[in-house]
Amino acid sequence: MTTPAYIHPSSYVDDGVELGAGTRIWHFSHILKGVKIGDRCNIGQNVVIGPDVEIGSGVKIQNNVSVYRGVTLEDEVFCGPSMVFTNILTPRAGFPRNRPEDDLRTVVKKGASLGANCTIVCGVTIGSYALIGAGTVVTKDVPAHGLVYGNPGRHRGWACHCGIVLETLGSPDHFGCPDCGRSYQLLADQQLVLLAERAACA
Ligand SMILES: CC(C)(COP(=O)(O)OP(=O)(O)OC[C@H]1O[C@@H](n2cnc3c(N)ncnc32)[C@H](O)[C@@H]1OP(=O)(O)O)[C@@H](O)C(=O)NCCC(=O)NCCS
Ligand SMILES: [Zn+2]
Repeated sequence: MTTPAYIHPSSYVDDGVELGAGTRIWHFSHILKGVKIGDRCNIGQNVVIGPDVEIGSGVKIQNNVSVYRGVTLEDEVFCGPSMVFTNILTPRAGFPRNRPEDDLRTVVKKGASLGANCTIVCGVTIGSYALIGAGTVVTKDVPAHGLVYGNPGRHRGWACHCGIVLETLGSPDHFGCPDCGRSYQLLADQQLVLLAERAACA
């Protein structure tokens, strides 16, 4: 039996919105028309999503986040509290750019985490399992597993599938997780590939 979605009575979900099994929407949030949200998502307090946004399964959106049209969140993305997506690069109150084609697309790939109070300038792609530090302003694409923080956000290292910052293992292109033991190789094209799920026994 599938668990139905839960919507707190203080929140509004517009007609035609699709909510997956086990997804929970907490207080004072609004989900606008055309939005599709997958299974087991947790949508916090004072969150606005849409219109026409696609969100995968297992996504966590903390309090005070707006996910505008043009943003896509893949499975297991984490949006920290009060982080900000933008959707118009050069906004003007007197020259509204509110057609769907005015929105620059932002994609956050599977498993990526966006720290508290960070800002994602529209038009970027954040790679899978990337980790964005608290308060970062992201202005450029982030590679898969990239660790980016500061303002402007700079690439400072690599993050494990599990979220822990990776350490070098002997050579500058070999990384390991001090927590879960996964190990990775950095290829010449700056792609980080998983070598082993667990550290080999000594
Ligand atoms: C970025 C982060 C993962 C730490 O990464 P790290 O590689 O372990 O960094 P360290 O703690 O070793 O700090 C290294 C340097 O970066 C600085 N730094 C760390 N996080 C930073 C951030 N978010 N923005 C700017 N500078 C940061 C530190 O002050 C330190 O500077 P110093 O070398 O001048 O002393 C962590 O600080 C962070 O921001 N996590 C996100 C937390 C969050 O938003 N959670 C949301 C749920 S509540
Ligand atoms: Zn790990």
